[in-house]
Amino acid sequence: MATYCIECHGRNAQEAGLDLRSIQAMMKGGESGPALVPGQPDESLLLTMILDSHMPPDGQMPNRREIDLLTRWILHGAN
Ligand code: HEC
Repeated sequence: MATYCIECHGRNAQEAGLDLRSIQAMMKGGESGPALVPGQPDESLLLTMILDSHMPPDGQMPNRREIDLLTRWILHGAN
């Protein structure tokens, strides 16, 4: 997340009102509601956006292994 997303959803910019610097902020989400729902990867917009190749909009995509890791992290409660 820090590598791929923070440039547009961090300290200097929060596109769509979304801040991805903390778990709290991810759960609060942006204009479309929560970006992270612990235990529910399918409900977690930040993951579905990556899987749809909608985020990040340009630049390098996270690889398969990183996406798997993120999915498992959400599934196990995002701790
Ligand atoms: C180059 C800038 C940029 C990067 C990098 C980026 N985003 Fe975004 N993001 C945007 C913009 C612009 C929007 C709003 C327009 C849209 O939805 O396409 C957005 C919207 C979103 C939304 C929807 C928020 C809402 O509530 O509507 C999510 C979720 C999201 N991004 C997740 C991510 C994740 C996860 C990453 C990293 C893998 C990421 N973004 C990387 C620019 C970026």
